Amino acid sequence: MSRPVNFSAGPSMIPVEVLESLAADMVDYKGTGLSLVEVSHRGPVYDEVHNQTISLIKELMGVPEGYSVLLIGGGATMQFSMLPMNLRPKGASADYVNTGAWAKKAIAEAEKDGQVNVVWDGSDGQFMSLPDPLAIKPSAGSAYLHITSNETIGGIQWKSFPDTGDVPLVADMSSDILSRPVDVGRFGVIYAGAQKNLGPSGVTVIIIRDDLLERSSDQLGSYFSYSVHAGSNSLYNTPPVFPIWAMKLVLEGVKARGGASAVAEENAKQAAELYGAIDGSNGFYRCPVDKNVRSDMNVVWRLANEEMEAAFIKQAAQAGLIGLKGHRSVGGCRASIYNAMTLEGVRRLTSFMSEFAAKNG
Ligand SMILES: Cc1ncc(COP(=O)(O)O)c(C=O)c1O
Repeated sequence: MSRPVNFSAGPSMIPVEVLESLAADMVDYKGTGLSLVEVSHRGPVYDEVHNQTISLIKELMGVPEGYSVLLIGGGATMQFSMLPMNLRPKGASADYVNTGAWAKKAIAEAEKDGQVNVVWDGSDGQFMSLPDPLAIKPSAGSAYLHITSNETIGGIQWKSFPDTGDVPLVADMSSDILSRPVDVGRFGVIYAGAQKNLGPSGVTVIIIRDDLLERSSDQLGSYFSYSVHAGSNSLYNTPPVFPIWAMKLVLEGVKARGGASAVAEENAKQAAELYGAIDGSNGFYRCPVDKNVRSDMNVVWRLANEEMEAAFIKQAAQAGLIGLKGHRSVGGCRASIYNAMTLEGVRRLTSFMSEFAAKNG
């Protein structure tokens, strides 16, 4: 069976070996006679998968001692609310950097029940650039400072991170987690929905410095408390068993490829190839994003007009290159080239781009 090359922003491409392994073990999980998705989440079979997944995240991301890894449902969207609920005491404020669509959503949720200071706002420049990380300083007394490490819709990515001193740095890494080495020790909290670099949707990874767990009030509903999830090793209630199982297989694949630095090298090469095709097209394709913050995960570009963009996307799909439509809020084209993308997949796209430009330029 020939599969299309999938450039979707999320849910997105999953290594085919992972899908095959899930299919092979779905009905009879490793000779147990039962599927992993029909046995108790408190039994030994699932327990092993659960704990190995957490260990793999710690190992591959280099999570230092003194941090907990939580696996819960609700998507990154739930973290937009859970984060201020847990980390921002009543009456205190939190800092946010407004870098685009996802940062805006995080800000809107945090504003619902407390004070937010937007310490940098990219809206004047249509979110095509990022601030100098060294220029980002937290406000006095801020509970934390929040950034979005990669704006999935805008196609911009922090290449280094602010130094926030004693104020915990929090990052929504939904669209670039484990795509490159990151010094986790510089962060108070990192969170990410799984459905781009880690597997299918349904599970969210939260990496939190243990001292911050003390900020979760006992008055919070149990499911909303980081402290409750950490205290029960993310087994307070039934965990999202299937996506955790799939994530374990994805993580094993990343480990076999050589871990975060090896994957980062491949990602950078693929991104360079694609930006090269855009920049080398004599203006037929245009990437609107500041060169020094172009994302290695979500590459965005425009053509001369919307009709040409629609034709490009349609013909690309006919050629087996799918998911290239930009987000409905911004239009244009976007190729999401997460960890599971291959250089061959990107080269199929760049060849198509050259042919399309030659025919229509
Ligand atoms: C950067 C970023 N944050 C948050 C989200 C929302 O994630 P979820 O759909 O898991 O709630 C997304 C989804 O695309 C995203 O790209």
